Amino acid sequence: MDKILVHGGNALAGSIKISGSKNSALPILAATLLTREPCTIHRVPDLSDTHYMLQILMHLGAQVERASGTVTVTAEKADSVAPYDVVRKMRASVCVLGPLLGRCKEATVALPGGCVIGDRPIDLHLKGFEALGAAVRVEGGDVKVFAPKLNGAVINLRGKFGPTVLGTDNVMMAAVLAEGTTVIEGAAAEPEVCDLADFLNKMGAKIEGAGTRRLIIEGVKELHGAEHDIIPDRIEAGTFLVAGAIAGKAVTINRAEPKHLTAITNALTGCGFKVEEKTNSLTVSPNGVAKPLELATEPYPGFPTDMQAQMCALLSTTDGISVVTENVFPQRYMHVAELKRMGANMQLEGPTAVIQGVHRLTGAQVMASDLRASAALVLAGLKAEGITEVSRVYHIDRGYEHLDEKLSELGAHIERVKD
Ligand code: EPU
Repeated sequence: MDKILVHGGNALAGSIKISGSKNSALPILAATLLTREPCTIHRVPDLSDTHYMLQILMHLGAQVERASGTVTVTAEKADSVAPYDVVRKMRASVCVLGPLLGRCKEATVALPGGCVIGDRPIDLHLKGFEALGAAVRVEGGDVKVFAPKLNGAVINLRGKFGPTVLGTDNVMMAAVLAEGTTVIEGAAAEPEVCDLADFLNKMGAKIEGAGTRRLIIEGVKELHGAEHDIIPDRIEAGTFLVAGAIAGKAVTINRAEPKHLTAITNALTGCGFKVEEKTNSLTVSPNGVAKPLELATEPYPGFPTDMQAQMCALLSTTDGISVVTENVFPQRYMHVAELKRMGANMQLEGPTAVIQGVHRLTGAQVMASDLRASAALVLAGLKAEGITEVSRVYHIDRGYEHLDEKLSELGAHIERVKD
C-alpha cells in the first residue's frame, strides 16, 4: 500500500489544470448502457473509481476502449446482473441500476454497504423505481428491480437530508425509456446531474429542468450513441483552491468552471483570501490576515459536503473560532481525530465542529479514512512543521487524478512511497 509523505512549509505557487469530474464521469459511464450504439466520453479522469466503473460495464457485456482521457463504450448487449465481487469496491456502482432497469426492464445489483461517512441508504432510488412501476426485492444482499414496462409518474425524491444526487441520476436514467412523462420533484441540482442530463439529451432523451428542483422527462422508445466532454471537477478545483489558501503565495487553477465554485470562493473570500476570476480559471492568494468562518454544508448551490474536510484543515490554523456544520452527511468527521493528532484544536458537537485556530500544526503519522478526509490531511501537511505521513492513499487515488504530482508542480515537497 502506498503512503504519501508531505514535508510541510513550502509555499505553493503557479498553476495546475483541473481534471474531468469524477462524480459526473461515473453516472455518465453507467448511462452508456442505455444504448447499443458506441458512446465516446472525453475527459474521463484516470482514477480507481472510473476504472472500477469500466470493469463493471465490461462485466455487463460492454466493450470498452480507453485512450488517455477518452473512453468509448459499446454496449451491444447488456447483462442485467452485477454481483457483489464486481460492485463492492465502489458505492457509486449503484448507478448502473437505473440504466439497466431502463434498458433490460430488470436489474440485480449487490447492495452497497455503508461507509465511513454514514450508512448511505438507497431507499429514495428504490422509491423512484417503484413509482415508475417496478417491483423491488432485497434478497441475499442484492437488490432486484424488475418491471414488464415502465410508466412515467410524478415522484418526490427529497429525503430527510435533502435531495439525492445519485438517486436523481438513477431515476432519471430509468425514466428516459419509460412510457409517458415523469416529473421528479425535489431533484438534486448539482452540476454533475446537469452534465448527465446533457449527455442523455445528446443520446436522444427529452429532459427539461436540469439544474432546478423539478425535472420533466418525456420518455422515448430508444436512445442512440453520443459524444460528450465531462465537466471540470469542482471538488478537485476547490481542494486546490484550499491548498493555495493554506500554503500558497498565489495558486491558479485552469480548466475550471468558476460558476460551479461560487460557494467555495465565497467561503475563501469570507476567510479573508483574495480570489480572482477569469474565464475557466481562478487564482487564490493571501490578502492580509485570515479570518475564522461559520460554514454549513448544503446541497448545491450551497457549500458542498465534499469540501467540508478540506475547509476544516484550513480553519484549523486560522486565528479565532470557526464553526462548521455538516448537514448532508452529519457523521462525516473522520478527519477530525487525525487533524487533532497534528495539533488542531477542534471539538465535535453532533453535526457541528467547533474549531479554535492554532498557530502551528506538526507533522504526524495519520490515516486516510475516506477520499475527502484524506485530501484534508494532505492539505494540513502542507502547512505543518515536519513530515506528515498519510497512509491508505488508495482513498485519494479513488477520486483525485495525480494529486501528489499536481501539488509537486505547485512547489510542494511531497512524495509517494511504498509501505
Ligand atoms: N440519502 C437517503 N436515501 C437515499 C439516498 C440518499 O437518505 O436513498 C441521504 C444520504 O444518506 C445523505 C443525503 O441523502 O444524507 C445525500 O446523499 P446523496 O444521495 O446525494 O449522495 P450520493 O448521491 O450517494 C453523491 C456523491 C458524493 C457526495 C454526495 C452529496 C457521487 C458518486 N457521490 O453521493 O460524493 O458527497 O452526492 O453531494 O456522485 C465524494 O465524491 O467524495 C462523495 C462522497
